[in-house]
Amino acid sequence: MTKVDYSTRGRIAVIAFQSPPVNSLGFALRRDLLLALERAVADDGVEGVVLIGSNATFSAGADIREFGGPDMRRGPSLWTLNSFLERMTKPAVAAIEGMALGGGLELAMSCHHRVALTNAKIGLPEVKLGLLPGAGGTQRLPRLIGVEGALNVMLSGEPLPVTLFAKSPLFDKVVESGLIDAAVSVAEASAAALKSGKVLPRARDMKVREPDVQALCQFARNTAKVAFKEYPAPLSIIDAVQFGAENSFDAGLAEEGRLFKQLMDGPVSAALRHVFFAERAASRIDDIPPDIKSRDVKSVAIIGAGTMGTGIAINFLNAGIPVRLLELNKDALDRGVGRIREVYEGQVKKGKLDSAKMESRMGLLTPVLEYPAIKDVDLVIEAVFEEMSVKEKVFRTLDSTVRQGAILATNTSTLDVNHIAGFTSRPQDVIGLHFFSPANVMRLLEVVRGAKTTPDVLATATTLSKKIKKTAVVSGVCDGFIGNRMIHHYSAQAMQMINEGASPEQIDRAVEKFGFAMGPFRMGDLAGNDIGWHIRKRQYEEGSLKVRQVIADKLCELGRFGQKTGAGWYDYKKGDRTAYPSTVVSTIIDEARKAAGTPLRKLDDREIVDRLVYALVNEGARILEEKIAQRASDIDIVYLMGYGFPIWRGGPMHYADSQTLYEVSRRMQSFATQPGGDHEFWKPASLIEHLSAEGRSFTGGVA
Ligand code: 3HC
Ligand code: NAI
Repeated sequence: MTKVDYSTRGRIAVIAFQSPPVNSLGFALRRDLLLALERAVADDGVEGVVLIGSNATFSAGADIREFGGPDMRRGPSLWTLNSFLERMTKPAVAAIEGMALGGGLELAMSCHHRVALTNAKIGLPEVKLGLLPGAGGTQRLPRLIGVEGALNVMLSGEPLPVTLFAKSPLFDKVVESGLIDAAVSVAEASAAALKSGKVLPRARDMKVREPDVQALCQFARNTAKVAFKEYPAPLSIIDAVQFGAENSFDAGLAEEGRLFKQLMDGPVSAALRHVFFAERAASRIDDIPPDIKSRDVKSVAIIGAGTMGTGIAINFLNAGIPVRLLELNKDALDRGVGRIREVYEGQVKKGKLDSAKMESRMGLLTPVLEYPAIKDVDLVIEAVFEEMSVKEKVFRTLDSTVRQGAILATNTSTLDVNHIAGFTSRPQDVIGLHFFSPANVMRLLEVVRGAKTTPDVLATATTLSKKIKKTAVVSGVCDGFIGNRMIHHYSAQAMQMINEGASPEQIDRAVEKFGFAMGPFRMGDLAGNDIGWHIRKRQYEEGSLKVRQVIADKLCELGRFGQKTGAGWYDYKKGDRTAYPSTVVSTIIDEARKAAGTPLRKLDDREIVDRLVYALVNEGARILEEKIAQRASDIDIVYLMGYGFPIWRGGPMHYADSQTLYEVSRRMQSFATQPGGDHEFWKPASLIEHLSAEGRSFTGGVA
């Protein structure tokens, strides 16, 4: 089926193109667009062309799904299409509504004229995919709006209102309505001007007007080096712009093409493209129909106004959803309400929120002490102490008071959601909503699917997550769900390396150099070491944790819970979050090593990083085998959004793929066989072995 609709308005051909949902410029659309343009050129009755996107948008750019595959090279490229457009001897007008992004804007800039609706947006978001605008954007935009403006557009990657550029040569006209009529009249006027001897305006013929491009680009480069350390695309964008400004347009295009290919073949763009699709895939639940009806959530109750309850409440208040906050007693309730107000006041102080908005959000909050006050809500989220007996009491009470049809959610981080659901007569309505701390900041939400949770409850949770600006990942029930189950293995490895001779500082430094926001010990001190201790004590009792973490337990016995107690793996000074190495901790470590009698050795940074990351990968593979996670990319999203894994490495599973699973498996085996190696721990999961044997990868591609 053709992707374009060709019609005429008088002597102007209107080429309406479509490739739902966002008119990305895949090979079939490129092919059909070129055919339509050739037809218009060949038709003596046609004097000009209008290009317009269907589905109320122009185009989101190149089809990212084609990148790295054969379709990218099928049919005419975007370069061919743009060059054809620009060299046409009949005027071409781009009519823009919705969005013109990336290759879409580059297509429009290759036209002789552009007309847009006032509420349309343009942008060159390639930088977010680790790329530069590779179809002439780095050359045409500086000529149309100036170097400084173009660098801002390309380095931010943000979609921007066309009205910002209404007075620049980027647009001939920006209109409230009547887009096609306006575009046709621009084409007619241009055709008439052509007849009277005028030449068609082309971005390639314009001069770069900045007085000192070199200085401007150097300034941008210095800033980019600090702001985007690990990302090569921003520097390449600046290089391509400067090269084109200082040389010819065609030389600039060639340099842009060379840099584009270099970025496309590099690991950072591969990781960022993976993240783009991973984020979108995460909201899909494979075994429920996409058109299932979600339940309406117009009001929420939160049980427990502690650290998590208050953070969770803020998400809903921000989204304009009324919250009833329930506590055990008035003191705890007042403290919780005070904490929420404090967060908002902090935002007002920083100028991120105005006082009127703060008051209207606080106005949506109703503090309550009795269950009847929440009986008619649509969703309840429990965030009380992490004790099964406390959860039991809460869920039995909810079951007997809250209306039928309401969703009953728990924010437990480790307890069995099926067991909790069993405290009610309606396990089909029970779900886990595992927020991360601080809950009003962290984007991740693990949606824990109980054995009996119904599809519409799951669908409601994922729909709601978008409303409160979270990225939801569905997890099955297991100890720690996806994220904490894996982090447990990561922490165990970190502890093991301390036993073997590494220090907390060395381990933190090595993974931070790899790109983690924080090493395991600094992270423990920030989150509170008591949380893990509490979990370990339960696991020692259940027998599910066989090896005692002597050093970590000792720290907690001494009250070294982390930053909140002024001491943890590190020492802290009042009002200062800097982690200072602690002599108390090194004495505890020395004593524990002596007692264990493990021979000490020097570990290098590479071993530290590989052991930590592959500990995550091995457990991630088991989580996939057990179908706790739906897909490997969901695990990556959990680690990128919730645990500070470096985005530019794409998450643990993508990272493992990039190393090839064969190498990952070999490395695990080498850890097993070195002195003191733990054979059981480092046995590669069978999924790794079998994917590796077939030359495949976790995230789909062939390694
Ligand atoms: N190529 C392929 N698929 C795309 C796409 C693209 N450029 N842009 C969006 N999609 C797909 C998404 O994957 C999603 O698919 P799914 O429904 O199967 O998950 C669907 O379109 C809808 O996308 P969103 O869920 O993101 O919808 P939103 O309405 O929230 O956002 C958007 C729309 C703002 C267009 C957003 O999708 C976006 O930012 N897309 C990427 C734009 C981009 O990066 N363009 C540059 C491409 S690279 C390029 O052009 C290179 C050139 O310089 C040579
Ligand atoms: P917290 O101790 O800060 O808050 C718990 C609150 O619940 C207290 O204010 C307490 O008074 C109240 N409470 C206890 N029993 C109650 C009852 N029967 N009815 C009403 N209120 C009651 O604990 P926190 O850290 O907020 O944790 C809450 C839950 O969230 C736990 O299940 C925890 O595992 C989970 N969680 C915690 C995370 C964290 O980093 N703190 C992260 C993710 C989940």
